[in-house]
Amino acid sequence: MRIIKPLLLALGFGLSATALAATQIQLDSSVQGAVINKNIYGQFAEHLGRGIYEGLWVGPDSDIANTKGFRNDVLAALKELRVPLIRWPGGCFADEYHWRDGIGPRDKRPVKVNTNWGGVEEDNAVGTHEFFDLVELLGAEAYVNGNLGTGTPQEMAEWLEYMTAEGKSTLAELRRKNGRDKPFKVHYFAVGNEAWGCGGNMTPEYYTNLYKHYTTFLKTPAHNTPKWIASGGHSEDTSWADHLTAHVKQKMDAVSFHYYTLPTGQWDVKGAALQFPESEWISTMQRTLAMDTFITNNKKVIDKHDPEKKVGFYVDEWGTWFDVEKGENPGFLYQQNSLRDAIVAALNFHIFHKHADRVHMTNIAQMVNVLQAMILTDKEKMILTPTYHAYKMYVPFQDATALPLKLSNVPDYKLGEVSIPAVSATAAKAKDGFVYLALVNANPNKAEMAEIKLDGIQINGISGQLLTAEAMDTHNTFAKPEAIKPTAFSAKAKNGKLSLELPAKSILVVKVQ
Ligand code: AHR
Repeated sequence: MRIIKPLLLALGFGLSATALAATQIQLDSSVQGAVINKNIYGQFAEHLGRGIYEGLWVGPDSDIANTKGFRNDVLAALKELRVPLIRWPGGCFADEYHWRDGIGPRDKRPVKVNTNWGGVEEDNAVGTHEFFDLVELLGAEAYVNGNLGTGTPQEMAEWLEYMTAEGKSTLAELRRKNGRDKPFKVHYFAVGNEAWGCGGNMTPEYYTNLYKHYTTFLKTPAHNTPKWIASGGHSEDTSWADHLTAHVKQKMDAVSFHYYTLPTGQWDVKGAALQFPESEWISTMQRTLAMDTFITNNKKVIDKHDPEKKVGFYVDEWGTWFDVEKGENPGFLYQQNSLRDAIVAALNFHIFHKHADRVHMTNIAQMVNVLQAMILTDKEKMILTPTYHAYKMYVPFQDATALPLKLSNVPDYKLGEVSIPAVSATAAKAKDGFVYLALVNANPNKAEMAEIKLDGIQINGISGQLLTAEAMDTHNTFAKPEAIKPTAFSAKAKNGKLSLELPAKSILVVKVQ
């Protein structure tokens, strides 16, 4: 009787037995959906470890098949992701980068020491022209990060003139002499990086004055003006966004923001990329979800100074950061990438979609061989990571219009003292006219039910892809490159309502038909 009574009560209220246990997903008509700027799926390539050299660039004379020095296997894989944007050359590297070192004949370029990342030699083989070759080969937009830390306003202004000038100025002629007649298209330009840390250990007040000082001298032809980005804060700190938006009233299209997910939250022992305990699975998910709070709090302070939402909030560095792999140069930030990383990526996408009114760009750190990479290489070999697969599954969300969802009856996933919502979902109307739905089950132990009804949107069925695996740290290796990859998934609706079982630790992205 004790078991039957609640069941009967539930049926009395018109709910089925499954509905009791299922997350209910509906459209939230109280919220206006914004366009999910494709640059939310942006990438970041820094002169760091094997990220650019080997990961992307092997040089035109390499035995590894390449186009203009960039490896063909990696280019082909990245094209599948429709990479919309690449940030370069750093990161911390940007504030020690002098653009004149990276132009002209490659064998005459100066060799420098990469003091930020492993103290290795930097021969400047990849410079401005090579970077633009890469973005043009991928059909991406260019995000160039200027050197505020060790550069001058003159050096920064001249780099922009070199890239964008059209006439007969000495710098435009120098660019032509170096093989590029027409100007490069600079979509975004940032003034410094992490000014609070490796970019100069500044206060928001000091940086804000420098930002205004430098940008006064940054000039480009009117039709090739980048969006100007100020370097902002990180994690829970809102003081940078507050100060910048209060005091900079021109030439600032966005404030940037960085947040990395460390399983332990400690920089000295961050946690391992593989073979981690479940406590580090849940802490990683919990720390990932903190991104939502950080963005919400930053948006609140920006709203005070910019109610018209002219200034963007760009999360131009994010992703997992684990203890470096044994045997690797600690300065190279090379780490393996597992199903856990893919779920971290998906949860972040859902958060970015929710805040698409301000968050018009994000850049995962980093594209190849560094931190939460899409691709890992070992000389001529290449593998795709679970994070790569997540990016590919979410391609339809690029430039789609968000359809805000209301989730109720969401089960908790608990371990010890930590508890997080097990299910997360996002939806959007894509450019192809179809509605896409993405769901995550962050519980590594238990499948979860979801019931979906989108009022006003006919659901006959769904088809798409599912990413899941047996172990929390399932990953691809050079010996087993397809240990984890998406599989096809489809389901039929009943009376316009979908009832789905989301496997434990899974991501599902489907087109509604
Ligand atoms: O992505 C690695 C480093 O992390 C970047 O260079 C820096 O901006 C951040 O601290």
